[in-house]
Amino acid sequence: MPADARYRLLASTIMPRPIAWVVTASADGIVNAAPYSFFNLFGADRPVVALGILARADRPKDTAANIRATGEFVVNLVPHALTEAMNATCVDAPPEVDETALAGLATVPSLAVRPPRIAASPVGFECRLTHLLETGPGQLLAVGEVLHAHYDRRVLAGDPERPRVDVAALDLVGRMHGASAYTRTRDLFDLHRPLWHGGQDGGAAHHKE
Ligand SMILES: Cc1cc2nc3c(=O)[nH]c(=O)nc-3n(C[C@H](O)[C@H](O)[C@H](O)COP(=O)(O)O)c2cc1C
Repeated sequence: MPADARYRLLASTIMPRPIAWVVTASADGIVNAAPYSFFNLFGADRPVVALGILARADRPKDTAANIRATGEFVVNLVPHALTEAMNATCVDAPPEVDETALAGLATVPSLAVRPPRIAASPVGFECRLTHLLETGPGQLLAVGEVLHAHYDRRVLAGDPERPRVDVAALDLVGRMHGASAYTRTRDLFDLHRPLWHGGQDGGAAHHKE
């Protein structure tokens, strides 16, 4: 199967995928932003996220080059209201172009890393690279520890000591199949986890809240 057909097939079946709107900075301090949907949370103690960065024919993606050079990145999350701006930053602009400026996005300085976060994004994670794996020719898996997590108060609810996320206020989008399909996070249902109680009647009768 040709590589592009394989990509289309896989990326259209392993979905929906959350989107990391990644801000990095070059060693010279040039800011870069781009969306990455090969992204997820891989641990919470310590908090760990990872990005899959594909090879590009002519030169590495700026995100890959900057993470390799500096070991830092900021993941911003993408609510429905910011999808156009997110999409604008996926343009394959040369390294000297700051896509946050291109998309008219204000940024806020980070606390522990050089790349800033996107002011309009309701959640931003400042990350330090812990592992950079080459999973194919020029294809990378960048694993990072979250050093600081910034949440807009409008997307949090409940006890400030143990806040929960107001999912409707957050209104995130995910990447779906093909080149242009996305989904919203609104079609919800509840499913309670079974707890094993060791009985002979199938065991799993209790439910964990
Ligand atoms: C929603 C969305 C998700 C994307 N996810 C990925 C991804 O996971 N990995 C990847 O290599 N490219 C991904 N891309 C493409 C990159 O954003 C694109 O190649 C971009 O130009 C890279 O920018 P950079 O060179 O500034 O890093 C995605 C694009 C969009 C619009």
